[in-house]
Amino acid sequence: MNSNEHSGLSASVMESDFLQSVLDGISDSIKIIDRKFNLVYTNKAGLEIIGKPIDKVMGEGHKCFKEFYKNPEQCSYCVVDQVFRSGAPAFNIFRTGFGASYKLKEISAFPLAGKSGKVEHVIEIVRDVTELKGNLAAGVEFSEIISQDPKMKEVFELIEQVAATNSTVLINGETGTGKELVARAIHKASSRSDKKFVAMNCGSFSDSLLETELFGHERGAFTGAEQRRIGKFEQGHHGTLFLDEVGDISPNMQVKILRALQENEITRVGGNETIKIDARYIYATNVDLKEAVRQGKFREDLYYRINVIPINLPPLRDRVGDIQLLAEHYLGIFNNMVGKNFRGFTTNSLDKMMRYRWPGNIRELKNIVERAVILNKGSYIEKVDVPQKESHDETSTEDSDKELKDVVAEAERIYLMDILKAYHGNINQTAEKAGVNTRTVHRKMKEFGLTKELFKP
Ligand SMILES: Nc1ncnc2c1ncn2[C@@H]1O[C@H](COP(=O)(O)OP(=O)(O)OP(=O)(O)O)[C@@H](O)[C@H]1O
Ligand SMILES: [Mg+2]
Repeated sequence: MNSNEHSGLSASVMESDFLQSVLDGISDSIKIIDRKFNLVYTNKAGLEIIGKPIDKVMGEGHKCFKEFYKNPEQCSYCVVDQVFRSGAPAFNIFRTGFGASYKLKEISAFPLAGKSGKVEHVIEIVRDVTELKGNLAAGVEFSEIISQDPKMKEVFELIEQVAATNSTVLINGETGTGKELVARAIHKASSRSDKKFVAMNCGSFSDSLLETELFGHERGAFTGAEQRRIGKFEQGHHGTLFLDEVGDISPNMQVKILRALQENEITRVGGNETIKIDARYIYATNVDLKEAVRQGKFREDLYYRINVIPINLPPLRDRVGDIQLLAEHYLGIFNNMVGKNFRGFTTNSLDKMMRYRWPGNIRELKNIVERAVILNKGSYIEKVDVPQKESHDETSTEDSDKELKDVVAEAERIYLMDILKAYHGNINQTAEKAGVNTRTVHRKMKEFGLTKELFKP
């Protein structure tokens, strides 16, 4: 092996046959990557994963992401890149393959400084942890969507199924539940993945702006239209068009969009030419569209056209088991970004997060973890800036927007969590204390995404 030609690593180390055979005997993939993402060393296991002869992957022109992934976008959580940027080690777990044959891989990356002290190379170690974490983490990560909740596992399965088709998808979920993430995952897993994913937030534009954003305009279509402009529909031709916050579209624009969908063609504003569009449509909303139809705010015909395959994302408070998982995931990311090394959260801060209602869902959690990483000191995160009122005063009448069933569910969730905690997750004792049977306890736990492991001391 003459990798030292490219790597500039100590020749005596890399040429040692003894060391070579040790490295080749290890079942983990071990690679060394330089700042240009060229592969400068791989052991035998690494080469087996790549599945190409050594001269086809080493040195200039063989960027690591092109060898490992069909689509470099999949490298957006690239830990190698993170190490180059932060200078600190980075870790991630990712999932490869679909269906029953998927594998969970743990990836660790460590900096290798050159003589100048600058990180010149990264050692990347990939270990198959499918068996190790299989049960615990079945479906922990799906194309960057992190969850271990059974309700989300169904979502992962749906993503896989719809990705293989061209069907229209409607993603329902509260703000920050990951609607856009799911839309992107569908696109990535679909046959259109090498084409564009075009996202459009329909909620933040006036009618006339939304119309030109979606359909584009011809030169001179209106004062100020100095150039022809290509709209989102045309940009998404052959790709995926993601229309977000469709519940906010005015009746007038609903008609125009419906027409475009029925005819599969559009006309630019101020133009006559009809332009054929072939796109996969994914819609998202945080309002109850069916209710909007009932109230006459949303056209029924448009509703049926977009509600072909609904995907419902549960709010974070109904997947309590994901709170720690996500908090730790983001802790790792912000540790790297900020250059800190927190090992985890204290029981106290985790408890606070688990009780909180998370109206802003995962986006809010991410922001709170980011703030905590910046503001805390020591080895564990002790202080999390979770609004206290929200976490306790659930039955207050202040928030009169909430429906009775939501208030009741929230009170039930907090009550159940308190008893489960007191009895360290013992279901029989919890049922007895709550005055219900164990079946009810199991059903409620499922509803809120609680597991007894969460309450073991
Ligand atoms: N399961 C998840 N795992 C990891 N990150 C997540 C997950 N769900 C959401 N996120 C992150 O939370 C943030 C919000 O997600 P996203 O923008 O997809 O939500 P949304 O439902 O589209 O929100 P909104 O309704 O406000 O547009 C993003 O940064 C996203 O990466
Ligand atoms: Mg969104």
